[in-house]
Amino acid sequence: MAEIAGKGTTHDQPNEPRNDRGNDRGNDRVDGPGDALRNGRVDQPPDELPDELPDERTGYGAGAGSWGAAAGGADAPAPQTPAQAPEGEPLFAVDPLVVESWGGALVVSSPRLRRRLRVQPWVAQLLLAARTGLLPGEWEGEAGRREAVRTLAEAGFLVREKEPAGEAEPPWDDWGVTAWSLHNRTRDTPFVGARGDDPERLRRTREAITSRPRPSSVRRAATDRILLLPRVRTPLSTPYREVLEARRTHRDFEEREIGLDLFSDMLHYCFAPLRFADAGEMGVLQLRAPASGGARHETEAFVFPLAVRGVRPGLYHYDNIRHGLVPLAAPGPDSPGDAADPETLRARLERLTHGQGFFRHAAFGVLTAAVARRMSWKYRHPRTYKLLLQNVGHVAQVFSMTATALGLGAAITGAIRDSEADALLGLDQPGEFTTFALACGVPRLGADGLPLSIRTPREAPERW
Ligand SMILES: Cc1cc2nc3c(=O)[nH]c(=O)nc-3n(C[C@H](O)[C@H](O)[C@H](O)COP(=O)(O)O)c2cc1C
Repeated sequence: MAEIAGKGTTHDQPNEPRNDRGNDRGNDRVDGPGDALRNGRVDQPPDELPDELPDERTGYGAGAGSWGAAAGGADAPAPQTPAQAPEGEPLFAVDPLVVESWGGALVVSSPRLRRRLRVQPWVAQLLLAARTGLLPGEWEGEAGRREAVRTLAEAGFLVREKEPAGEAEPPWDDWGVTAWSLHNRTRDTPFVGARGDDPERLRRTREAITSRPRPSSVRRAATDRILLLPRVRTPLSTPYREVLEARRTHRDFEEREIGLDLFSDMLHYCFAPLRFADAGEMGVLQLRAPASGGARHETEAFVFPLAVRGVRPGLYHYDNIRHGLVPLAAPGPDSPGDAADPETLRARLERLTHGQGFFRHAAFGVLTAAVARRMSWKYRHPRTYKLLLQNVGHVAQVFSMTATALGLGAAITGAIRDSEADALLGLDQPGEFTTFALACGVPRLGADGLPLSIRTPREAPERW
């Protein structure tokens, strides 16, 4: 990463913000537990990013213009291609402009630019002042400021004309800096190879992981009470081709109960471990039907039986080791009301999912939640957030496919009132958070056997 600094520039800063343990830059090949099965160890632990990577790999950071002590710091590299100092007219800060302070470093970036710069506070202030225009009198008089302005202009952070807001390239013009930061700053992360291209790197990263206590991959129940579920399994004999062809999103369900065994099967296949793997110092891994990057299986299921024969409607945590439902205490003012009243629960789920109607007649609902600490213990790079979302996508697909195979139907939504859902589930925030809402029941089908919400095209499409 290039940097703009005053005297006293240090050269040991990371090119990703550090967390409080001084290392969030590790990364990992994303393999799942295959290695654990084959050779008794899990896929590779994180490694450190090198301090500087070529621009074409990172999309930000190093390259021409890496520029150190403004007032002639001894070992700072000189500007390689100094831009023409802009004269006369006001200069404006690039828009959008992102200024981050994290782990003692100030970093500026923009979705419009490929580089990001580490800066001293006075340089950040200069840039912030330039949002409304920086006049020559404000920077010309002093050598350090002149050079900072020159370098900022060269890197594209200062421009001659105020750019109209929101003119970034699609999709970032609409999605904005939050999405851009996650996307751009987590691309092309180098992965440490498990099979020995750099054993020393591997050893160091393993050590970094195992030096911290490993979080349990099981969520401890708050109470001893548990409704144990049947362990008989319904034969899943629907041919796979039929499952593939029949799986659809079902937004309308019959007002019918489902049997306890089917309900139990859904939870078992989607959320319970089917096998275990010994991954040595990485612990004993759960192997569930859905794949999970790193096999940390951070997804937990919070279950709302609404019309399941033999199960009292309510809010439960699915204890996937004991295969049972742990009733959750109504959590204060956000309580679902009378937890046994299915209509109250339905209304609550509808509110949480913006009234899409999935839960009006569903037999049960599930809110999935991520216990992120379980993952971050091993995967410290911000890219892990993407992995977490990919993981829960796998869970949801297994949910949908299993429902189909069992003659049920499922709907998925991520359109959730997150904070309300987190509070309702009593999640330990901010490290635990709701990820998906899933509905399941007996699907209402049209005469063509398809969900009522599907209208088959009657005319040739305009353009394909
Ligand atoms: C991540 C994800 C989020 C979704 N969110 C919604 C939603 O909020 N509302 C909705 O009606 N359908 C939602 N769906 C269902 C999609 O609209 C559906 O998959 C798509 O229309 C294709 O139909 P099919 O699932 O029947 O193939 C979601 C699907 C996925 C995978």
